[in-house]
Amino acid sequence: MTLCLGIETSCDETALALVRDGKLLAQRIATQVDAHALFGGVVPELASREHLRALGPLLDGLLADTGVTPAELDAVCVARGPGLLGSLLVGMSLAKGLALATGAALVGVNHLWAHLLAPALDRPFAFPALGLLVSGGHTQTYRMDSPVAFTTLGRTLDDAAGEAFDKAAKTLNLPYPGGRFIDVLGQLAEADPGMFPRPYVANDSLDFSFSGLKTAMVNHVAANPGLRAPALVDDLDALVADLRARGALEPLARVCASYTLAVADTLRIKTARALDAFPQARSLVVAGGVAANSVVRRTLAGLAAERGLAAVLPPLALCTDNAAMIALAGECLFRAGYRHGLDLEAVPRGRRIPWDYRRTEPCPGGVFGELAP
Ligand code: KG4
Ligand code: ZN
Repeated sequence: MTLCLGIETSCDETALALVRDGKLLAQRIATQVDAHALFGGVVPELASREHLRALGPLLDGLLADTGVTPAELDAVCVARGPGLLGSLLVGMSLAKGLALATGAALVGVNHLWAHLLAPALDRPFAFPALGLLVSGGHTQTYRMDSPVAFTTLGRTLDDAAGEAFDKAAKTLNLPYPGGRFIDVLGQLAEADPGMFPRPYVANDSLDFSFSGLKTAMVNHVAANPGLRAPALVDDLDALVADLRARGALEPLARVCASYTLAVADTLRIKTARALDAFPQARSLVVAGGVAANSVVRRTLAGLAAERGLAAVLPPLALCTDNAAMIALAGECLFRAGYRHGLDLEAVPRGRRIPWDYRRTEPCPGGVFGELAP
């Protein structure tokens, strides 16, 4: 039996979770979305302070919920990057303190890998797998040979898919983060497949580039200024009612549907190409905040079916940032014999995460049981 604490403070969610043998025991999450929404994006300084304020009470709450004591922990698993440096440092300080005080192993976790392992908290899946990570900061495809061996196949050269949604939402005067608004509004109209381009697909590259799509939206709205939501309403039902009353719902919904289709199609084209490069894959895993998008889910489930692969799409609660995925990824590493010392460093966005584990004896079994190679 292995009991792991997960700590997630890489962006604007403060989260702690306990995972035992690959199963979630309990989780506590404090979101900062409201604090940052005022500014239209995450303010790093504010995020660090909010993490520091939230972590103590969350830990007390989690231990009280479960009756677990820190002395019972086998591993303290912490998101060590990529993320906002100041925010990561808050979580890492707690992790180091706990590991030092209890003797539990310290395991630094790549936040992006954790997103791709998250669906296993719901149901285990078969390796090797192809991973598509689509979040606010990243769009990447990975060859996943095992829960602890990932290789990047493609990455975005500029904006991430989530950023493409958020910036389009801003152009349309929809609240931040706008991905969900575009998704829900888009479900109220038919998409026009010709309205937006499928960016950076006329090449052999596995990489993505979404900045041209964002510009296409800016140009489209500049040519049709009446499309912008008239007021910044952040309750979706109220927004839909307001738009309907003004007769502005259909044209805006159509733009949202068409834009969503362009993003989903682009993801399908590049993922299909990554699968051609990794024919050994048995599963297609889609993770990150944008994996919550209804059209993205349907499109990639369709691609997996076409290729005879298991489509692995996490339930919505596991798509966005959480600590359960950090504890799970950490447990996989811990069982495989990977640990960090107190010299573990945080890695900000844009820098490569080093493979700097200390090796110890692996524990028998594994979170993915006989499925792991
Ligand atoms: O993975 P995530 O929670 O945070 C990180 O970036 O790590 O992803 C957040 C992103 C935001 O850009 C948000 O707009 C997008 O996921 N998102 C969506 C949907 N729900 C969240 N994008 C499109 N459709 C959605 N339903
Ligand atoms: Zn994330």
